[in-house]
Amino acid sequence: MTLYSLARPILFSMQPERAHDLAISAGEGLAHLPGFLAFERVLFGYEDASLRISLWGRELANPVGLAAGFDKNGCALAALLGLGFGFVECGTVTPQPQEGNPRPRLFRLPEDQAIINRMGFNNQGAIPLAGRLLKLSNSHPQALIGVNLGKNRDTPFEKAGDDYLAAMRAVYSGAGYLTINVSSPNTPGLRGLQSRKELSSLLHTLCEERERKVESGAAKPPILVKIAPDMEESALGEVVETALETGCDGLIATNTTLAREHLQNRHRGEEGGLSGRPLLARALKTVETLHGMAERRLILVGAGGIFTAEDAYAFIRAGASLVQVYTGLIYQGPGIVKRIKRGLAALLKRDGFDSVSQAIGTGI
Ligand code: FNR
Repeated sequence: MTLYSLARPILFSMQPERAHDLAISAGEGLAHLPGFLAFERVLFGYEDASLRISLWGRELANPVGLAAGFDKNGCALAALLGLGFGFVECGTVTPQPQEGNPRPRLFRLPEDQAIINRMGFNNQGAIPLAGRLLKLSNSHPQALIGVNLGKNRDTPFEKAGDDYLAAMRAVYSGAGYLTINVSSPNTPGLRGLQSRKELSSLLHTLCEERERKVESGAAKPPILVKIAPDMEESALGEVVETALETGCDGLIATNTTLAREHLQNRHRGEEGGLSGRPLLARALKTVETLHGMAERRLILVGAGGIFTAEDAYAFIRAGASLVQVYTGLIYQGPGIVKRIKRGLAALLKRDGFDSVSQAIGTGI
């Protein structure tokens, strides 16, 4: 029995969003308690040399990250890092604060091991996040924190680039990498930015801004594009070409899906993006397809229904250098990170790989 098996019924008796807010507040508050972060490391720490991965001039302790949307405002980053993640992505953050969609907007589907959300980028805006990132970079200088960027709902489609640019400028110095989120299904029109013409113009703007920053002496955080699992192969090909042409560094596959296949729970008809178990096959296929197209010229980050070490390993063998979890954390609790890491190390050993890097793209 794990501690979470006791805590979960209590959390699951609450409205999902309340339970989520409570988890973030707990993470934020507890991190200030003397000794708490050390205690977390004892409880959740697991290291193995085979899990280490060198990427973007850094050495990560492991390739398992937290996906965007859990800590949108970067309030609980220290406590989340303490769970043993190799990296954490905060956001989606928009330049201006916004409320998001009316509640209820978050639904658990336990029979399906899934979540449907239509949060709609509720967040405090880029400026407060930038402040928190600055603090974290002092207390955790080695940590890799990605920042996921989006547009405000009220910003017209034609002006979307201005929003990404403003958010990027605000968080630039605190971001270990930047994710351009063009795949949330909950901001009307956002997925339209995945089309070749729109994406090319957006990425040109952002990559040029990065060049200007670099010329003035700033760091060069990698730029990743986060895509939907609901794209045809031809559209994926266009994304890969556009990312390469514009100088992006990688792709995150995938965001939540609009598909609704074989779901049991009564919430299955809710509007929004579906995550968790039912997304796994679709997300994995997307990574496999992207790997075939990108031929290692882009770093791929896999996300979608990862609950076990076997899931994470499948994404790595399909071509992902890194993986992310979100819904698995809700269903399995914080121990999921250690379980995935321990299992992954065992799988690498079983198959004769000395390191994660050796296993990337070796086929499922
Ligand atoms: C998300 N996800 C998400 N993604 C993103 O790019 N920006 C965001 O703000 C959010 N918000 C968000 C809220 C909630 C409640 C969920 C469940 C998910 C998507 C998330 O990062 C991930 O891509 C998918 O959920 C797939 O991974 P899992 O959840 O199946 O492990």
